[in-house]
Amino acid sequence: MQNFVSTHDVADISALIDLALKYKKNPSADKSLGIGKRLGLLFMNPSLRTRISTQIAAQNLGMESYVLNVGNDNWQLEFGEGAVMNGTTVEHIKDAAPIFGEYFDIIGLRTFPGLKDRDLDYSENVIRSLQMYCNIPVVSLESATLHPLQSLTDLITINENWNQPRKPKVVLTWAPHIKPIPQCVANSFAQWVNAWGKSDFVITHPEGFELDAVYTKGATITHNQEEALRDADFVYVKNWSSYQNYGQVKQDGAGWMLTEKHMSLTHDARTMHCLPVRRNVELSDEILDHPNCLTTTQSANRVWAAQAVLSELLRSQ
Ligand code: CP
Repeated sequence: MQNFVSTHDVADISALIDLALKYKKNPSADKSLGIGKRLGLLFMNPSLRTRISTQIAAQNLGMESYVLNVGNDNWQLEFGEGAVMNGTTVEHIKDAAPIFGEYFDIIGLRTFPGLKDRDLDYSENVIRSLQMYCNIPVVSLESATLHPLQSLTDLITINENWNQPRKPKVVLTWAPHIKPIPQCVANSFAQWVNAWGKSDFVITHPEGFELDAVYTKGATITHNQEEALRDADFVYVKNWSSYQNYGQVKQDGAGWMLTEKHMSLTHDARTMHCLPVRRNVELSDEILDHPNCLTTTQSANRVWAAQAVLSELLRSQ
């Protein structure tokens, strides 16, 4: 593996899941693999899980990790090609990225979309600029359109919670929110579940909240949430703002918030969410506090997903 920004970087998703589960059983199985190697973690946006779990993963492999909160710990970075830097940005990524490449062996970046200009966000100009100029492997810690470490974690979690011979029915359901949220987690979950190919995958959302077909192709898509939830084994809950009317929020989506009534349609489904979650807006207390809720397991599994990815990148160096 040379980089980790989408499924396209992974030759065998099932093998990567198996490696993560190996680390879950024995976190120090490869405790010397990263000795003498440094991981840089650049955060342009807040994080709880990604930041800590990736640092723990690096430590389990013997790597040192360094966190930079971009714009606070270092200079404000510019990503625009040909930019006249007479505003707030102080250092161009063209100048900073090669230095990161000198200091670190692997670099991770979190960058959220602006949700104003769809073409710009979907061009992934920020993470692509880092890839272009840093000369070391890049790990997405969530980019403008995708969140691959989260999605790998989600597949690990589904895999370890499923032991029947038939394929599980996995449903991705849109949930309400009060502000514009990126499509990254939903895009990425769809991309990974489709590429994995080991579930019956259904996506449900209100009209006007269709995701980019590049990611959803292969899934069954319906606007009827009840129909989607029927006999589900796993229900993944996530809000996203509109892709078509880019960044717009649905004001009257409250009926889409999952309650026990919705879950009674399912096959005693396990519920999932990447967190953070707004309680009783996106998901009700009764679902989040129910024993079938896997959110804490998902968050814990972020360590093993990151460890598997870093391990593969270290082995490729
Ligand atoms: N799920 C997730 O990426 O959490 P953080 O934003 O806290 O890292």
